Amino acid sequence: MAAPLVLRHRDVSVAMRDSTTFSTEFYGVGPMAMAMIAHNGPEHARQRRIHNRFFSPVASARYATRVTPIADRVFGALAGQARTELVEDVLVGFPMAVFLDLLGVPNELGDQGLNWVRAIVTWIGSPMNDELVGPGEKAYAELSEYTGALVERERVNPSDNLLGEIIRAHLTEGGFSVEACSTAVVSLLLGGFETTIQMLSATVASLLLNPDALAAVRADHSLIDAAVDEAFRWANPSAGLYRLVRRDVEFAGTRLEAGSMVFLCIAAAHFDPDAHAAPERFDLGRGASHLGFGLGPHYCVGAPLAMIEVRAALAALLDACPDLRLDPDRPPSFHYGARGFVQHGTDALHVLLSR
Ligand code: HEM
Repeated sequence: MAAPLVLRHRDVSVAMRDSTTFSTEFYGVGPMAMAMIAHNGPEHARQRRIHNRFFSPVASARYATRVTPIADRVFGALAGQARTELVEDVLVGFPMAVFLDLLGVPNELGDQGLNWVRAIVTWIGSPMNDELVGPGEKAYAELSEYTGALVERERVNPSDNLLGEIIRAHLTEGGFSVEACSTAVVSLLLGGFETTIQMLSATVASLLLNPDALAAVRADHSLIDAAVDEAFRWANPSAGLYRLVRRDVEFAGTRLEAGSMVFLCIAAAHFDPDAHAAPERFDLGRGASHLGFGLGPHYCVGAPLAMIEVRAALAALLDACPDLRLDPDRPPSFHYGARGFVQHGTDALHVLLSR
């Protein structure tokens, strides 16, 4: 089945806001049927209320105090090295270290956590590829069993961490079950792991490719948020999002039939000159105008945590590596499907760290 591309910023935004016509329910394959992203209307609103509690300003501030030392440890280890490949050697480990810490999980999973997440995200993100169903379902069952055991262990006396917040929020808002909490944990891992890796590499690469912006951010760390926002627009990981069309509709000059799929092309919207003047220019002064966290009812619920992570990582990396620059012999190559995921990014980021 082919899916037409929606390209203009205006049209992509309208479709993202209208989840009645442009539905996310296709995400609800197999065991994902319970996940918040697969629901619209009252069931989505109920789950969203619970999820918003995990990322309240108070809870997020507590996570930030835990994330900063992790970033300092992970990126501080680069100080004094001559060169590295940032993505596999460094960035991949960071969001997993953060999740393990926030969920109170001992670091016993090795690559298993990443492999589970990769199989599931690839399956769900490619709804028209039948070959991915088997490995995706198997990974989902194994990850759910693992997280279910974590929830069982924690339910009696929830800690002050993210897992404790998830359990407490379900108890407070109603709807506690081991399965519901486990689904929430799995959704956060799916939504927040590879996306954050790609966001980190996109932000670092954007700055290294734009030395004036890099110099400005080095001189004034209060520009870090502006740099992350503009990197989201300029080199964003979420190239686009599928939607299931729920009714026959005339949209952006095209007739769409109920039951068909469309692809809301965020990457194109980010370079729409009607929305962003001189879109190819990396400009720290634009303000947050990107759609990288989505828009409307399904706007990324983990955005506060993602921003905490990317901010902390960038500050720690720049401080640890004053001479950080791209390896001129091995430039990054951005493409769709980077690292085997349904995202836009680079498989590798070869950098030099000393003069
Ligand atoms: C930079 C990193 C991230 C990016 C680029 C990103 C991107 C997105 C996007 C584009 C959506 C909308 C999906 C759609 O409408 O189809 C979304 C939703 C979501 N994200 Fe994120 N995300 C990131 C980090 C995170 C983190 C850290 C978490 C959790 C800890 C998370 C959890 C979720 C969840 C649960 C949803 C579904 C929200 C709903 O259905 O209401 N994300 N994210």
